Amino acid sequence: MTLEAHRSGYDEATYARLAQDTAAIIARYPQKRSALLPMLHLVQSEDGYVSRDGIAFCAEQLGITAAEVSAVATFYTQYKRHPNGTYTVGVCTNTLCAVMGGDEIFDELSEHLGVGHDETTEDGAITLERVECNAACDYAPVVMVNWEFFDNQTPAGATQLADRLRAGEQVAPTRGAASVCSFKQMSRVLAGFSDGRADEGVGAGEPTLAGLRLAREHDWTAPGGAAPEQVDEPATGREPESAAVAGETTAAGASAVGHEQSSAERTPTTPADATGATPDASKGKQP
Ligand code: FES
Repeated sequence: MTLEAHRSGYDEATYARLAQDTAAIIARYPQKRSALLPMLHLVQSEDGYVSRDGIAFCAEQLGITAAEVSAVATFYTQYKRHPNGTYTVGVCTNTLCAVMGGDEIFDELSEHLGVGHDETTEDGAITLERVECNAACDYAPVVMVNWEFFDNQTPAGATQLADRLRAGEQVAPTRGAASVCSFKQMSRVLAGFSDGRADEGVGAGEPTLAGLRLAREHDWTAPGGAAPEQVDEPATGREPESAAVAGETTAAGASAVGHEQSSAERTPTTPADATGATPDASKGKQP
């Protein structure tokens, strides 16, 4: 075993694999210490949290101290200080979601699962969290599973979703990717290694585009802004809540034209775009 691997606590093969990934991450930045945030996600993709071995590894790779790594890792809530469940179920309890029932959803889930905020079920399946606004207020109240959207939730729908996750069933987010992957898989994506699913599904649905359509109908513009372009009917995406919880896929076909910056505008590139985002049964399983 190399001295570096020994110091990090990882076995030789794991150390070599992580070091190779780290080199790819560092190459993205002019200064290698800037690679720390994605590297912490990389560590979570390996260990399921920011472990002591992971902290030592990051420090050694970046030429900084373990204290500096820890200072960053303990600042952001996406970095976990203890082993995370396979799925992070985050209930938005920020202002709008709270008004629309987010607190009731969290309380129901907490009682149903027997865990509180940042606690994990005994089977290791779910870590429950209160989360801040996910910029999905037009679909409030929102529940996130490993950062995939489950829109317009209810306490009953959210507990059914949690039960299906614990049973190892496939669930389909309301928008975005056609399935939910594990926390470790998601962490690797956050480290910057694509799993090829970023363009799945519909990104901007009707509530998101309603204001844009209104502005275009009335020829409203922001001061100094360009006139709005014609907006066509957006794709409706998968059915909210009930279909998402039931794992059904009733999406309309490829995304309709929206705004240039909207993901609804992009060219369909994945099978999910053409088929209505039918989940692949091979996805979303534990690694
Ligand atoms: S307040 Fe919940 S997504 Fe914005």
